[in-house]
Amino acid sequence: MSGGGDDYKREESVVLIVIVSLAALSLLSLIAAFAYYCYITRKVSRRLNSHQLPKRSSSPAPLPLPPPVIPPQGKESPSSNSASDGAAAGALVVGAERGVQLFGYRQLHAATGGFGRAHMVGQGSFGAVYRGVLPDGRKVAVKLMDRPGKQGEEEFEMEVELLSRLRSSHLLGLIGHCSEGGHRLLVYEFMANGCLQEHLYPNGGSCGGISKLDWPTRLRIALEAAKGLEYLHERVTPPVIHRDFKSSNILLDKDYHARVSDFGLAKLGSDKAGGHVSTRVLGTQGYVAPEYALTGHLTTKSDVYSYGVVLLELLTGRVPVDMKRPPGEGVLVNWALPMLTDREKVVQILDPSLEGQYSLKDAVQVAAIAAMCVQPEADYRPLMADVVQSLVPLVKNRSASKLCNPNAQASRPLD
Ligand SMILES: Nc1ncnc2c1ncn2[C@@H]1O[C@H](COP(=O)(O)OP(=O)(O)OP(=O)(O)O)[C@@H](O)[C@H]1O
Ligand SMILES: [Mg+2]
Repeated sequence: MSGGGDDYKREESVVLIVIVSLAALSLLSLIAAFAYYCYITRKVSRRLNSHQLPKRSSSPAPLPLPPPVIPPQGKESPSSNSASDGAAAGALVVGAERGVQLFGYRQLHAATGGFGRAHMVGQGSFGAVYRGVLPDGRKVAVKLMDRPGKQGEEEFEMEVELLSRLRSSHLLGLIGHCSEGGHRLLVYEFMANGCLQEHLYPNGGSCGGISKLDWPTRLRIALEAAKGLEYLHERVTPPVIHRDFKSSNILLDKDYHARVSDFGLAKLGSDKAGGHVSTRVLGTQGYVAPEYALTGHLTTKSDVYSYGVVLLELLTGRVPVDMKRPPGEGVLVNWALPMLTDREKVVQILDPSLEGQYSLKDAVQVAAIAAMCVQPEADYRPLMADVVQSLVPLVKNRSASKLCNPNAQASRPLD
């Protein structure tokens, strides 16, 4: 009986040893598996780290820049002042005002000698314009609105709205504005040579006044003004239609470089190709495109027409409308258009003030551009970019000439 009991005990301890060994073995394999897992994860993380980009600094990464707003079709044209003009286009869409100062009425009163007569440089439909000097020494032109009412207010707001968003070396820069109580004032860069109109018609438009603007200067003014309109039409979105483009809205700096001014009547154009906006007809007699005058349909081609009228003024030295002239000559476009494409006749219509100091070849080309711009059919008028392209070589050819040549000797045409 005791032998059977011993056998049983021995068997029991063998089973126990097997169980303990198995348990120890599985514990060991668990530990080994865990160790292997740790080893693998460390190795993987080390490998990942070695492929990572350098650590970010504590400052936040810059936000992506907004997409450029230059319309896709508006490729970099040779005419554009790309750096400043493109940036300005961005500002229009993004909608932030750029560096336009808010002035107090008293500040501007002091800057212009109390709006004294001696400081007055001109008078327009908006009000009088005064020369002034800011405390920092900058020369400015201050426009004092004297036209109360809705339209005046609208023009004031449009001017501030647009000019504070547009920046081009071919547009007059707005320095600031004042909207205090009933006062509405606009502060611009001062343009030492006033407007083109004054230089074309020293006698105020009546016959006999001799303009001192020479041919190369006229060509360059034509090109720079064209670039101003090209910028408005083709380099901002939506396009801006000036609506009151004329020789008194082309201002000249001390070196007779031109800038387009006065956006009080400007209108944002349609985004659609060939689209128009309907509006009441505003603008200046003699410059308004026929389809706009008749239907109120406004497109960028209405500005192209007005530009053509200014080209005719530069060519002929005649004001757009002068009913004191002989019958058939009162309206500049009607009188000049039939002669613009005839080489022999172009000579007859050129401004006598030029006294032959022009290149006939250039004059014929400028006349051809003017003829296209004042086409009665808007679709046949060129884009301002085309006008710019056509004028660039003419201006380059003449760039060696003096800017303004008051003492030019009379001579026969250059070619
Ligand atoms: N920034 C400026 N620098 C120098 N002179 C200026 C400036 N702005 C305007 N002027 C002068 O003031 C005159 C009046 O300008 P304004 O724009 O008020 O009227 P306008 O263009 O002649 O006519 P309208 O009001 O019908 O457009 C201009 O002809 C010009 O001689
Ligand atoms: Mg003006």
